[in-house]
Amino acid sequence: MDFLELAKRRYSCRKFDGARAASKEDIEYCLEAARLAPSACNAQPYRFTVCLGEIKNQAASCLGFNRFATDASHLVIISEESYNISASIGSKIKDIDFRSIDIGIAAAHLTLAAAERNLDSCILGWFDEKRLKELLGIKGRIRLVIAIGYAAAGCAPKEKKRKPMEEIARIKE
Ligand SMILES: Cc1cc2nc3c(=O)[nH]c(=O)nc-3n(C[C@H](O)[C@H](O)[C@H](O)COP(=O)(O)O)c2cc1C
Repeated sequence: MDFLELAKRRYSCRKFDGARAASKEDIEYCLEAARLAPSACNAQPYRFTVCLGEIKNQAASCLGFNRFATDASHLVIISEESYNISASIGSKIKDIDFRSIDIGIAAAHLTLAAAERNLDSCILGWFDEKRLKELLGIKGRIRLVIAIGYAAAGCAPKEKKRKPMEEIARIKE
């Protein structure tokens, strides 16, 4: 499978099969892909909290309209950690939130690795952060939750709706 095939295979699954769970090995593979992601000054300012079983159900109750994710076998909560010194200085001087960017890249690695393993996933940015932090004892900001599992029977990737290339990209010589 080439990269574009993989990118097309990954889609936001919103109907999971509650009876099928991702294997521990596959989840570890996805986490390893996230661990290898690049980050500003290599600060890796994130933590991945993987929830399954009862704690996953409790975490899913913090997802508001994303409650469909209850049927995913795993929820990966991505929270922020401190920068290292160089990323912290760079972020202040340039007034850029590198941590959110880093977390977005790690989430891309994680979900593409999941797609490669024939898992389905959905990146979630809408959740009750306060409740989730209390439930899981997470101190840093929670930026994303990723639901991972297997799609319910009959669900398949939809045709990607994307802006035309000429609108989003230009080549200047
Ligand atoms: C940062 C971010 C936050 C998102 N939050 C949600 C969400 O809370 N609920 C949801 O159902 N989808 C969410 N999505 C999924 C997007 O809606 C989805 O990626 C987009 O519509 C493109 O569809 P595709 O992923 O199937 O290609 C989020 C995606 C990203 C990258």
